[in-house]
Amino acid sequence: MKTIIANWKNNLSFQEAEKLLENTLSKVSPEDLNKCQLIIAGSYLSLPVLKKCLKQHHPKSSVLLSAQDISAQTYGAYTGQVCADDIYSIASHTIIGHSEARMYLNQNDQDLSQKISQALRANLKVILCVGESYQQKMDKLSYVVVADQILSDLSYVSLEELRFISIAYEPIWSISTSEHALPAHVNDINKMNIHIRQVLNTNFGDYGQNIPILYGGSVSLNNIREYLNIIDCSGYLVGGASLKVDELIGLINIIVEEIN
Ligand code: PGA
Repeated sequence: MKTIIANWKNNLSFQEAEKLLENTLSKVSPEDLNKCQLIIAGSYLSLPVLKKCLKQHHPKSSVLLSAQDISAQTYGAYTGQVCADDIYSIASHTIIGHSEARMYLNQNDQDLSQKISQALRANLKVILCVGESYQQKMDKLSYVVVADQILSDLSYVSLEELRFISIAYEPIWSISTSEHALPAHVNDINKMNIHIRQVLNTNFGDYGQNIPILYGGSVSLNNIREYLNIIDCSGYLVGGASLKVDELIGLINIIVEEIN
């Protein structure tokens, strides 16, 4: 079983988001979605619309919803924030620490560790994004950066709670909208996944063994067959390609075809 997390970022109006979901579900069978778990990470405002659409028109669908971020605080005087409890009423997951949130919203590892605590308190599952910048890659710091992010961001998580965490390795330089947008090679991703698994095992013992690792960065119809060879990879965090119905369906179809 592989997972696709469709990270729609701030790209679609909520009407467009609903249409994209409807169009996808009209062409992918529920059986296929049981083999390839689809999680839609829509904007805050689209989530209730998507939830209603799933409930009314696809009540048996396995599609899950995710926020793209949550507040590091609970309810209170935090203007502009959306707290985990509100998200949990409409979604099962939240992304935390996406490189765009780290970069544009100045979220640091301390903020992210608090967001993760809030998510877990509210029963949300967490997709923690980690990954190095182009400069850090050039400086040969990739492994150090990723280990630091994982350990700092998970610093308040108990061993028992680790089962609610997935790690998405997203090298910033490979994200389609980044300045460099270079394709990452399977061998390099494999090496990083081995490193991440070692970090998890060393620090969390058996509890680290079951944490899913996903890959994200320009995943598309052109490279998905190759990326299916990534070792220890439970799925893909897909941005740009998940915004086009044919590409999203194509990705699901290829994954289902290849894993059977
Ligand atoms: P991309 O985005 O697939 O367009 O590279 C991935 C992401 O930013 O999560």
